[in-house]
Amino acid sequence: MSTNKKNDLYKILLGQLLSQDEGIDAEILSNSALNAIKLASLNRNFPIISNILLKASSDFQRNNSRLNQIVFGSPFKNPLGLAAGFDKNGVGAGLWNYFGFGFAELGTITWHAQKGNPKPRLFRIAKEKAALNRMGFNNDGAEKFLKTLEKQQIPAPGNRPCVLGINLGKSKITTLDEAHTDYSLSLKLLAPLADYAVINVSSPNTPGLRSLQGTKQITKLIKTLKDVSNCPPLLVKIAPDLSNEAIDEIARVAKENGIDGIIAINTSLNRFHLKKLKIKTGNTLEQESGGLSGLPLQKRGLEVMKRLRKSTNNDLPLIGVGGISSARAAWERIAAGASLVQIYTAWIFEGPNLVPDILDGLTLQMEKHGFQNIKEVIGSEEPWK
Ligand SMILES: Cc1cc2nc3c(=O)[nH]c(=O)nc-3n(C[C@H](O)[C@H](O)[C@H](O)COP(=O)(O)O)c2cc1C
Repeated sequence: MSTNKKNDLYKILLGQLLSQDEGIDAEILSNSALNAIKLASLNRNFPIISNILLKASSDFQRNNSRLNQIVFGSPFKNPLGLAAGFDKNGVGAGLWNYFGFGFAELGTITWHAQKGNPKPRLFRIAKEKAALNRMGFNNDGAEKFLKTLEKQQIPAPGNRPCVLGINLGKSKITTLDEAHTDYSLSLKLLAPLADYAVINVSSPNTPGLRSLQGTKQITKLIKTLKDVSNCPPLLVKIAPDLSNEAIDEIARVAKENGIDGIIAINTSLNRFHLKKLKIKTGNTLEQESGGLSGLPLQKRGLEVMKRLRKSTNNDLPLIGVGGISSARAAWERIAAGASLVQIYTAWIFEGPNLVPDILDGLTLQMEKHGFQNIKEVIGSEEPWK
């Protein structure tokens, strides 16, 4: 079946559901997809399943050495990843390469298992290609996560078809003063499984979490986690709602303390031009709590990337995320300084074909600009042609 036909199929099957904010609850829909992915990942090495997967995935995967690069020591087949939050418990860890991703960020995982906030807590805003969520780090906890990955028999870091990052957060029951202990317990357990680990201090849905972006707090966190034996490359994920000066400061402190990269951006508390827009609850966006994701974040995501590029003096790997919905948006983020980019909300709305679309679009642009490898695009400031 051709790529376009597959995409049509996705749109026919899910288009009606995804194009309206009413109807099946967004979290139920997402969990149903994840359950299928979980089953496939567990059984992917059985000959019948592996044949089906190989056939089904051939349209999504791109084996193009011009997209290969090594970033913080890990070999990435391409620069496009699945952002944190979709596979919180790592149930699809063995499958993300079949969707064409060069990497996937699992989590957020906390030391203690937790249920997260009351439902409903995830809302589609289809017309704006956006979503609002206040999940609150619902996850199985670090110990169960370890077992989930072991069951899937994922190859060791460095040897995987798809690089796997593990995104760590603070358990709700742990005080902010003890946050460093909570993160380090998770890291000690999960370090052997991670190609890279992320300190998530930017989710808006855990009370006080974002205060850990402050100079004193982030310094303590980075120092504690760097001291964990076998600490993998360590990144920090920041919020879009920081002032530009605060971005400069966190970049300075992170660099000074040996961080290996920065991920920008998480969901936003800003409602941009959508303050008065009503969601399924009947309330306007400005009345609802939670983080906004998707297209409305694209402009801020690009601004933050440009700022980070300057404040890190171009010598720290950056991962761009937030509102990336096309090859052009991915190109602009990489040309502004991102070594890698991630998608979440647009992948849900556009379907799995978005991955090859973005990878093909990037390759074509590289040809137009005469670039041999994706590395040359990073920070080149070359415009989309
Ligand atoms: C439902 C949902 C859950 C998310 N959960 C997490 C999470 O657990 N940890 C995290 O770092 N980011 C989380 N994010 C944020 C995404 O990783 C990403 O930073 C953000 O959505 C912007 O990218 P996008 O516009 O492509 O969606 C979540 C986003 C959504 C929509």
